Amino acid sequence: MKHILDELEQRRAGARMGGGERRIDAQHKRGKLTARERIELLLDTGSFEEFDTFVQHRCTDFGMENTKTPGDGVVTGWGTVNGRQVFVFAKDFTVFGGSLSEAHAAKITKIQDMALKTRAPIIGLFDAGGARIQEGVAALGGYGEVFRRNVTASGVIPQISVIMGPCAGGDVYSPAMTDFIFMVRDTSYMFVTGPEVVKTVTNESVTSEELGGAKVHTTKSSVADGSYENDVECLLQMRRLIDFLPANNVAGVPEWPSFDQADRLDASLDTLVPDNPNKPYDMKELIGKVVDEGDFFEIQSSFARNILTGFGRIQGRTVGVVANQPMVLAGVLDSDASRKAARFVRFCDAFEIPIVTFVDVPGFLPGTAQEYGGLIKHGAKLLFSYSQATVPLVTVITRKAFGGAYDVMASKHIGGDVNYAWPTAQIAVMGAKGAVEIIFRADIDDPEKIAARTKEYEARFLSPFVAAERGYIDEVITPRSTRKRIARALAMLASKKVETPLKKHDNLPL
Ligand code: HXC
Repeated sequence: MKHILDELEQRRAGARMGGGERRIDAQHKRGKLTARERIELLLDTGSFEEFDTFVQHRCTDFGMENTKTPGDGVVTGWGTVNGRQVFVFAKDFTVFGGSLSEAHAAKITKIQDMALKTRAPIIGLFDAGGARIQEGVAALGGYGEVFRRNVTASGVIPQISVIMGPCAGGDVYSPAMTDFIFMVRDTSYMFVTGPEVVKTVTNESVTSEELGGAKVHTTKSSVADGSYENDVECLLQMRRLIDFLPANNVAGVPEWPSFDQADRLDASLDTLVPDNPNKPYDMKELIGKVVDEGDFFEIQSSFARNILTGFGRIQGRTVGVVANQPMVLAGVLDSDASRKAARFVRFCDAFEIPIVTFVDVPGFLPGTAQEYGGLIKHGAKLLFSYSQATVPLVTVITRKAFGGAYDVMASKHIGGDVNYAWPTAQIAVMGAKGAVEIIFRADIDDPEKIAARTKEYEARFLSPFVAAERGYIDEVITPRSTRKRIARALAMLASKKVETPLKKHDNLPL
């Protein structure tokens, strides 16, 4: 028996070396960890159970029969993150550049199937050169199998993609169909076709970083949800993210011990909104003061910064937070902000995460750039997403809630369950100046009259009380009590149940 066990150990040790010492060194020299080192950091110590350690490719073309390496360029298995089960696959760049063969794809789909069957999140760590070129269509078929499973699992288990090296060709579309994509700055890039093909087809000269680096995807394309300095920081942040997420769409949000009193008052919030309605303030301060221990995991922090999205906790239970940010473009809703928030709202709704919305929005952004870019459809995405959401929706209007944007931001009319306003709230069809110039156009040349009319309009509409008189606002609350009010509303809504008509699926404006 001893020699059999020795042989097993030897085989395992061989598999653990992936593409060999030289390639592992090269990986380290580039500031990247190996697939196994990454998994070790992502999962709880000693919890990783590997599958298919000895799987090899079956390709015999182009001299491939002599190149078999156990594992075939991807390490797969399961383990735990703070005791909660997750599945993981990590591309091993040291083996054929992490490229995807038929056998490599079968390892990933086995893990995808297992994750779906057991209803646990799946995390993919990408560092690869796309389809295994020597395998041709077998590799393309393999991608298709992975893609289809991404879609089946969408909305059932959280799927997270982490880009930690090259991610090109066929490799980009699986991440694109998962819930979140994170990247590592300077060492990762994502594109459908690389700089050489771009040069040939469009005659543009770009570097990999310019074409698909973390900066591009977190600020311009919005393909990625965040980026981190290096592999270690990125993986530790993924552990933090997983702590916020439910295991699946019916498990409910995880509950962690909280040392932050639910009824904690914060007097500093009473002076957060400046006297001057055109002066910005930082909505992140409000979020930080409302969620447990100020712990807020922001999603897409560098894109469409006029809206904030992310996860926090109230009484130890995850909430999704959506908030206009007056510090950027006065918190206006534009196409990018609408798309960003819509996707986030849909994620929360799919996974039964209650949504807390903070509103300070002067309206939709006017202009040809926005209209030509389809603002109507993009704005509709957010309207559609909130209207469709059946999770608890708690809304707090801190200042402006003007025009269509008032309706869109989880108003009572589209399904808000508990809608609060601060006494500083201004809920109106538009700002006083614009309104007076339209309804009192005849007086436009009389500044005194206009000033009086403006005052009158402000007194009547730029307060929360007209909306409160109609019951569109459930209560006008003191800013300092915001956390307590939200916590109580969420506790009351915990048993919320909404039946929606049976349909195959909706037709979200895409
Ligand atoms: C087989 C590959 C490979 C691939 C890399 N390697 N990509 N082997 N198939 N797709 C191998 C290399 O031969 C090399 O082997 C090792 O991995 C490391 O690659 P290097 O080129 O030395 O590394 P680097 O300089 O860092 O460049 C990384 C890279 C480059 C940018 C990813 O390797 C590259 O451009 N690869 C090809 C990318 C590509 O065109 N893929 C196909 C896309 S088509 P040795 O033995 O020397 O270590 C596609 C279509 C699918 O994916 C569509 C489905 C919808």
